[in-house]
Amino acid sequence: MIDGILEEYRLKIESRLDMINALPGQPYDPVIDAARYSLLGGGKRIRPVILLEFYKLCGANDDCAYNFACALEMIHTYSLIHDDLPCMDNDDMRRGKPSCHIRYGESMALLAGDNLLTEAFAACAKTLGLPQERVLRAISYLSGAVGSAGMIGGQVIDTSVPVQNEQMLFRMYSLKTCALIRAAAVCGVILAGGDDEKIKLAETYAENLGLAFQIIDDLLDVGGTADVLGKPVGSDDKNGKNTAVRLLGESRCRALATQYTENALSALSGFNADTSVLKEITEMLLTREK
Ligand code: IPE
Ligand code: IPE
Ligand code: MG
Ligand code: MG
Ligand code: MG
Repeated sequence: MIDGILEEYRLKIESRLDMINALPGQPYDPVIDAARYSLLGGGKRIRPVILLEFYKLCGANDDCAYNFACALEMIHTYSLIHDDLPCMDNDDMRRGKPSCHIRYGESMALLAGDNLLTEAFAACAKTLGLPQERVLRAISYLSGAVGSAGMIGGQVIDTSVPVQNEQMLFRMYSLKTCALIRAAAVCGVILAGGDDEKIKLAETYAENLGLAFQIIDDLLDVGGTADVLGKPVGSDDKNGKNTAVRLLGESRCRALATQYTENALSALSGFNADTSVLKEITEMLLTREK
């Protein structure tokens, strides 16, 4: 059942992404071409799905949040394009294809990422059919989550600060990975008009899911295969990163990922609504192979 639901989401999200990021006929625009290459070529789409599920969970039953959901995927894709650059993780494969900078060159990859980030906020601002104060509040939450106090701050620690202990490692994960997932859950609630109690539950859910998600990502970098993952394995080791696996060992990582997943599930049970789809997604992400 969940596969069918996710496939339906994927098709709708990808067709909206295609529309928002349409390539103009003339003149040819290399930046949009490069962005589309990374954006429309695979990916699990979990961030937009999470936003749309929280939107539904809080009682909304329309398609008004799709632009906002797609904006999250655009921001996520920009972060991946930049994350792969030689000055960052220097990885030459992403989503089963050569990374953006391998295919289009470093300058164009950098600019494609910049443009995705910029156009993402334009897409958010074009959220029609919902009260403007909700849209503004969601945009404000999202910008806080992806800036220097969120995702960017996490990437700064990841690339520039030696991670010495567990506390620092999880602080870095909370910023680089959880922040955008948290924005997905919370913006879904805000756009649907959910109250502060629901926002709190969404934050707790996403923080825990995000930690489990990054731990699994680190485990897959050690025990996965590039063919299945669509990105190189051994990247963290190559870059001398202090990951959860290196710091805590594989079995403690598995136990922690399970614990964080359980915490996420218990936050979901605080909603007085049908959370079965989110529950299945959350469980699936724990056992994922890509
Ligand atoms: C990869 O994210 C980057 C991390 C935060 C670990 P995903 O695993 O969601 O990547 P895609 O979107 O499926 O390619
Ligand atoms: C990436 O973390 C997090 C962001 C892009 C913000 P990783 O560097 O571990 O992600 P992958 O493994 O390259 O997908
Ligand atoms: Mg990285
Ligand atoms: Mg990386
Ligand atoms: Mg990784």
